[in-house]
Amino acid sequence: MGQIFNFFPLSVLKSKIELSDEKKKKMIEEILVMEKKSKNIEYKNQSSAWTGDTQGFEFIHNNQIFDDFFIEVKKKIIEYLEALQVDHNQLEIFIQRSWATISKEKENIALHKHLQSHLSFAYYLKKSDTDANLLFIDETKHNEFLPGLFLSPSTNKKQVIKKRNISNTAAIVFDAKEDEIVIFPSKTAHQTQPNIKNNDRISISADIFIVSKNSENLEHLVSPFKDWKNI
Ligand SMILES: [Fe+2]
Repeated sequence: MGQIFNFFPLSVLKSKIELSDEKKKKMIEEILVMEKKSKNIEYKNQSSAWTGDTQGFEFIHNNQIFDDFFIEVKKKIIEYLEALQVDHNQLEIFIQRSWATISKEKENIALHKHLQSHLSFAYYLKKSDTDANLLFIDETKHNEFLPGLFLSPSTNKKQVIKKRNISNTAAIVFDAKEDEIVIFPSKTAHQTQPNIKNNDRISISADIFIVSKNSENLEHLVSPFKDWKNI
C-alpha cells in the first residue's frame, strides 16, 4: 500500500472569551440600539441578517463598551499567529473595521470574503446551540482533479464521493458556541448556514490588518503606516 501525504491546510482557531454576564448584557443592549438606529435599512433584504457595518456602525472597537472584549481579541490573534509560527513581535496588529450582526429566524449572511484585510473573526455574543454556524468554502480545492467533484449537488446526491474526509471536502460547517471566537484568514470564503432558524443570534466580527514594524530588507508585507504619505 502506498502512503498519502496531505499538506497546505487552512488553519482556523476556535477559543473561548470569558466576559461577565453583565458585560455581555451591556454589549447586547448597545448592539440593539445600533440596530434601532440603522442608517441604511433598505440595504438589508428580508432573508439576510442585520450587519452593523452596512448600517453605519463599522467601528465598534472605538466604543468603550467593547474595550474589554477587544483586549481579549488581541490575545487570541496573537495565539493564532503563534500557532502559525509567525513572529508577531515584528508586526503591528490593527483593527480595521468591526461590527455586530443580528440573525433572526432564517436570515443568513451570504458567501463572501474580506479581501481588504488579513485576518477576520466571528465571536458569538449570543448563540443557541440550534442557531446557524459558519460555513467555510475552500476555493483552492487542490485535490479536486475533476471540476465539480467536491461541491456539485448532483455529484453529492449520487454519492460519487463515498465518504467525506479531509482529502475530498471543500465546504465545512464549523460548529462554535456562545462565548467562542473563530479566527481565520480574511481571504477564506465564508457564509452562515442558510435555512436554519436563529434565535436572534448576535455575533461580532472584525477585520484585522497587519503591518510590519520595520520594512527594512523586507520586500513583502505592508510597510509601517508612519512611513506612508497622503498625496
Ligand atoms: Fe465575514
